[in-house]
Amino acid sequence: MKAIEIRNKHLKFFEKNGHKIIPSASLIPENDPSVLFNTAGMQQLVPYLLGEKHPSGTRLTDYQKCVRTNDIEEVGDNRHLTYFEMLGNWSLGDYFKEESVQMSFDFLTKELNIPVEKLSVTCFAGDEDCERDNLTAECWKKAGIPEERIYYFGKDDNWWIAGEEGPCGPDTEMFYDTGKPKCSEKCNPACDCGKYVEIWNNVFMEFYKGKDGKYTKLKQHNVDTGLGLERMAMLLQGKETPYEIELFAPVMEKLKELEAEENIASRRIITEHLRSSIMIINDGGRPSNVDRGYILRRLIRRMTRHLNKIGIDLEKLPEIIGVSIDSLKEMYPELVENKEKIKNILIEEKNKFTKTLKNGEREFEKVANRLKANEKDTIDGKTVFNLYETYGFPPEMTVELATESGLKVDMEDFDKLYKAHQDKSRMGSEAKFKGGLASTGEMEVKYHTATHLLNAALKVVLGDHVHQKGSNITAERLRFDFSHGAKMTDEEKQKVESLVNEYIKQDLIVEKLEMKKDEALAMGAEAMFLDKYGEDVTVYKIGDVSLEFCGGPHVTNTAKLGHFKIKKEDEISIIENNQEYLKAFRK
Ligand code: SER
Repeated sequence: MKAIEIRNKHLKFFEKNGHKIIPSASLIPENDPSVLFNTAGMQQLVPYLLGEKHPSGTRLTDYQKCVRTNDIEEVGDNRHLTYFEMLGNWSLGDYFKEESVQMSFDFLTKELNIPVEKLSVTCFAGDEDCERDNLTAECWKKAGIPEERIYYFGKDDNWWIAGEEGPCGPDTEMFYDTGKPKCSEKCNPACDCGKYVEIWNNVFMEFYKGKDGKYTKLKQHNVDTGLGLERMAMLLQGKETPYEIELFAPVMEKLKELEAEENIASRRIITEHLRSSIMIINDGGRPSNVDRGYILRRLIRRMTRHLNKIGIDLEKLPEIIGVSIDSLKEMYPELVENKEKIKNILIEEKNKFTKTLKNGEREFEKVANRLKANEKDTIDGKTVFNLYETYGFPPEMTVELATESGLKVDMEDFDKLYKAHQDKSRMGSEAKFKGGLASTGEMEVKYHTATHLLNAALKVVLGDHVHQKGSNITAERLRFDFSHGAKMTDEEKQKVESLVNEYIKQDLIVEKLEMKKDEALAMGAEAMFLDKYGEDVTVYKIGDVSLEFCGGPHVTNTAKLGHFKIKKEDEISIIENNQEYLKAFRK
């Protein structure tokens, strides 16, 4: 069964069961420059999972374009993808476990004709936050899954939340048995050996995890499901990898025909990154040096490098893009319309990187000659790092060229330097992410410091539940997104404004502290995305009013800020919650 047929069957099946079909959200989330990509079907539905009324009702279904880049380095193996399509169905305070399980069972066994014997399921084992999900297990039994193929696992396997805070709950996952032998006596669906492949995840979203780590019941019980389309197509077509299905196979074939050197991992990387790039550009993404633009740039560069690596003439790229779009157009007809634009952007970016490759190679020659003149045979890590950092020359290419020239490379040394650099740049981008600073002129720095004061004042006036969800700063103004259930009253706004001005008047000292993450947490420092920080963190302390994880920069004392005024408040805080889902990922 082709992917498009699975998609259509899914939408029709749920439509027949009272669901309204809603469109996929864009890969580029609206209203928020600081969110990278849409990572799950539920992302556009967060406000409705929390209780807002959805215009299409309480039963919804869709296909959602998703990009998840956590595992970008793994692409090239037989399963990781950065772009994928997620089929979903939702109950917003409508049906719950019984109907959800029955519908999933019917869809899998009757619409997709998967034999029951191929299916195993997992349920939540229960803990101090939520009871064992016996009801779901009962529902599976009633539907037709025998007890020995119903497993129970804890939060690590059977609990879904996007990030640290937000709507969440126990889930039940469905697994397809590939028929491979068990890797051991203990082999079960939680095992990674490849015998069992997860095909669907139904989350029973009835909890909200607060920043304090505590769970409270949501106003309504929801169901949020996600089915990975490419993976399902792969299984139903009896293929071992997604690269063999119709969405990828023609590109893989084309590459095979063009390549000088056979390399399946490179072929996969090119095919996968090309599709992701096409889809991101199609939704308005453009390569750049920051945030999502940088992810796109990385995808295109990696693809270009691998084309080069397997000896494919880069002039063939337009042809390869054509093959990819042809394989995707049935699923995404808009690609045909955008074809020329997509091609141009990809080719321009490829051309830019080609120069980098050339420069890197030239620099490498110099390094090699110098070493040989000094009768040395090992390139040190610093040189490899320098080629990488200054010329963007990929280290593995340095190694390749070195081998050809009879030289060795101290990769251990390089790895150390690279890691240190990564930690540093991660901190930097987190800081930027948190600060939302596009550029850092004097005004931006002031606004940035004011952001911390505003965050602190909001907590005093509205309560401790207030948390920063994002911010955006230009030389003219600062925008601050935060979580709070209601619009602020005029009186509250007045109070916040006065309090911030009070802090400014007190001329508080702004101190930059460097410490371990744990220490900072123990001191009660605020962080917007905790798990994005490495071990060593920077914390800014403003008098006794504010303590926040932050990369800066800031003014040295608050009197430098001048007068603070709230000009406008938009009630978009719930939608801004989308940010939480940056970290969302499927297990
Ligand atoms: N939100 C869940 C997931 O991404 C179910 O759709 O797996």
